[in-house]
Amino acid sequence: MSITPAVLFVCLGNICRSPLAEAAFRKAAADAGLDAEADSAGTAAYHVGEPPDVRSIRTAARHGIEIAHYRGRQIQAADFTRFTHILALDHSNLPNIRRIAPGDHEAHVALLMDMVPGREGAAVADPYYGGEENFADTWEDVWMAAQALVRSFRSEL
Ligand code: 4NP
Repeated sequence: MSITPAVLFVCLGNICRSPLAEAAFRKAAADAGLDAEADSAGTAAYHVGEPPDVRSIRTAARHGIEIAHYRGRQIQAADFTRFTHILALDHSNLPNIRRIAPGDHEAHVALLMDMVPGREGAAVADPYYGGEENFADTWEDVWMAAQALVRSFRSEL
């Protein structure tokens, strides 16, 4: 019996990078006909209940994806049983994720770009203080990671 992959993408604020990672993964999975669940969260509570940053909404829209209805939330201990994979957008997110992990969880916690052959150990740079071009770079990273994730899940099934 195979398990449906359930992936939580985690950044700091859950308004810039992780909503784009969630959107990219949903699209890559749908394109491939892969049954998977996805969500995103922040390690911080600054933007709980807020829609994504308008620059992320525009970036996703350029790729045909509507994310204006997403709402920010903070990662919680229950996520470690709900998700099979919890993927951090950068290195600073990782210890903050691990800090709230229950002792006996089975979720696989890793850096998102570790999933991309040749990009292991790389961070998805925070575009918050940047411009539209930085959000385009974020999209390139998360789209590559989404496709790599889908390939790896398909080969496991
Ligand atoms: P994100 O970007 O972690 O990709 O959602 C940020 C969003 C908000 C802040 C920093 C980064 N902030 O400081 O409010």
